[in-house]
Amino acid sequence: MDFIDLKSQYRRIKPSVDARIARVLEHGAYVMGPEVVELEQALARWCGTEHCVSVASGTDALLISLMALEIGPGDEVITSPFSFFASAEVIALVGATPVFVDIDPRTYNLDPAGLEAAITSRTKAVMPVSLYGQCADFDAINAIAGRHGLAVIEDGAQSFGASYKGRRSCSLSRVGATSFFPSKPLGAYGDAGALFTDDEGLAQRMREIRLHGQDRRYHHPRLGLTGRLDSIQAAVLLAKLEIFDDELSARVRIGARYTELITEAFRDQPGLVSTPHVEPFNTCVYAQYTIEVPGREFFETRMQARGIPTAVHYPLPVHLQPALGHLGLREGCYPHAEAAARRVISLPMHPYLTEEQQVRVVQAVREAVSQPLPSNR
Ligand SMILES: Cc1ncc(COP(=O)(O)O)c(C=O)c1O
Repeated sequence: MDFIDLKSQYRRIKPSVDARIARVLEHGAYVMGPEVVELEQALARWCGTEHCVSVASGTDALLISLMALEIGPGDEVITSPFSFFASAEVIALVGATPVFVDIDPRTYNLDPAGLEAAITSRTKAVMPVSLYGQCADFDAINAIAGRHGLAVIEDGAQSFGASYKGRRSCSLSRVGATSFFPSKPLGAYGDAGALFTDDEGLAQRMREIRLHGQDRRYHHPRLGLTGRLDSIQAAVLLAKLEIFDDELSARVRIGARYTELITEAFRDQPGLVSTPHVEPFNTCVYAQYTIEVPGREFFETRMQARGIPTAVHYPLPVHLQPALGHLGLREGCYPHAEAAARRVISLPMHPYLTEEQQVRVVQAVREAVSQPLPSNR
């Protein structure tokens, strides 16, 4: 069994992917070709924003958003301590200081209840992460940020396609950033990402920064990067966008089915294995289907022995990463993030998972958890 099965998806869309890639090879505009423009228009429409700026990766999307907001040394940006490293990494890369607010242990997303206390005179922005495919509570976060004049950047790398109170992830704040890494809900065949905003001036700055800060050929009013999306990746994403709505419905259905099967399997021991909590105003696209189990290390090995791949996202919270050691943050600073990092584990998840495979996974979960944990003696 695959943790994420991209081959079944390719078999389904092969004619469209192959034809679109062949077109790029024929016209030869490998960088910033017509597919890039077509994709940006399609994605902005899909997301419900005025502008989409495609970029080379999710990390570049976050970095470019910070650069376009002119965030740098002396500034603070508030984010989640429980995420992929890139969220805080880009803040440090522009010379600003990442400041963390602990997560809501039910959703794993930044808890707005802790936000106000973390704001100082140096705070310039808040970067909530919509982890595992479910949006953070943007109305609450935007309201607090608005009172303090802070920009809100959604790290929607895992939530593209999710909705929050009927609006789409990446359209919920000043700027939304996503990743099209191959395993994401909408994935390219290599690195890719995008930015979304309704702010024309910000969109223009982000477009310039992805092209070395250039406003016209060889004229550079600001610093930038080689942060563009390749035409071939845009072609792949256009083909995948044709089936994206259908795949999202499958993700929602498969996520809900896992929860049903696990709840049923542990009816006699409720709470032993925790299933994802999706807020009633959210849809989750399950970039990961993540559960909490006792004795995770043993669980992983036992699942492996039963032929079921699992993955831990993420075993070490961001504030304890060695590269951010200069912040002086210690174990105990963000207890919910630290507890999640010790307990979470993700099960195979993709839109082509069958009922039979889901039953097998949950059967293995049941067996793995039921075996006694080895004693310390
Ligand atoms: C929450 C989060 N932020 C940022 C990124 C960075 O995206 P990319 O790998 O496309 O640079 C990822 C990718 O895994 C992510 O999961």
